[in-house]
Amino acid sequence: MALLSSLKLVGLAYTFLGTSVLAQNLGKTSLWGAGISPLIDQSLWQNLVPNPSAVQQWPAGSIPQRCADAANFETPKLNPADFEVFSVRYADCGTPWGPWSFCRHRNAPISQASMIDLFGRIPVHERQWIQHVVAIPGSNSAYMGSATIVFRGSVGTPSVFQHEIGHALDFYKNGFQASARWEWFDAIRQDTCVPDNYANTNAVEDFAQIGVVSLFANVNPGGLDPAFGWTWHCLLNQFTIYNAFQSDSMTPGGVCTRRWADSATISTRAAKTAPGEEVLPKPGNVLGMPGVFAIPFEVRTDDTVFGTLVINQTEIEAAAVRQDAWAEETNAVRRAKRAQRIKS
Ligand SMILES: *[C@@H]1O[C@H](CO)[C@@H](O)[C@H](O)[C@H]1NC(C)=O
Repeated sequence: MALLSSLKLVGLAYTFLGTSVLAQNLGKTSLWGAGISPLIDQSLWQNLVPNPSAVQQWPAGSIPQRCADAANFETPKLNPADFEVFSVRYADCGTPWGPWSFCRHRNAPISQASMIDLFGRIPVHERQWIQHVVAIPGSNSAYMGSATIVFRGSVGTPSVFQHEIGHALDFYKNGFQASARWEWFDAIRQDTCVPDNYANTNAVEDFAQIGVVSLFANVNPGGLDPAFGWTWHCLLNQFTIYNAFQSDSMTPGGVCTRRWADSATISTRAAKTAPGEEVLPKPGNVLGMPGVFAIPFEVRTDDTVFGTLVINQTEIEAAAVRQDAWAEETNAVRRAKRAQRIKS
């Protein structure tokens, strides 16, 4: 059932891509108009805590399969050789788990530091449902494809990351697509509003936008009331049902409890190289490890074209400085250990 509706969704996503989705419009009042970022992102920046990370660049020449798939999906296709691939290990998802493999096209407006920072701030019990994180150039939009999240253009804000990660949890976390359940349709029917214009697109996109509202409620001091008074109660039923399905994953804190198997590492110049010549980096999370799972089915969400986004340059620069300091610390520890080995 979940699989069937997912497949239908894929069909719709392709059919309606780039055209208006009037056929699916929920027809609700839009509580916050053009977009929720201006009302929500500043608090998310302030209240989602940056997560210590250790980063390792991959040697040129190899890329995770799913990142190459994202490159091929673009029109025109992007060259997989133009991607920077790097591994990111966060403090709350250490050994035995492997790091996440990120892929950034060298012309993507979102920096490596920004990708690492934004993904790291999202609660770990959400992050653990994501396979790869990808940033590419193009007009501002994003999608989730089979648990890989792809950010196109200048969309580096916490609310956008939450939206795309929320899609993965919608399809994969409960063993059924939560946004296709009658409880969700019923909640929409009972409510008089949805968060913003984009949430009106369809039940799937509305679910992801309510996820952004739910994360805000979890981290903004006092929750939604101090920020919005009673106005937000026009979406109370959606908020309640969303939380019934997802809130166990959306509280900051804790450590990884599961991961997806990483996609295979492939050569970006496979055609030119004799098989077996190259030593490719080995994926960290592999089937057979306890708590590591294969992605059970393929799904791709609509390209979300976000309304006004508030990009915070101060936060982006601070993230880069913070990550440099963490790298320095790691190097200092390494140097001290090496000095110790030489002495003894
Ligand atoms: C960016 O973030 C900083 C620190 O959280 C804050 O002081 C500043 O007001 C923010 N700027 C914008 C444009 O949101």
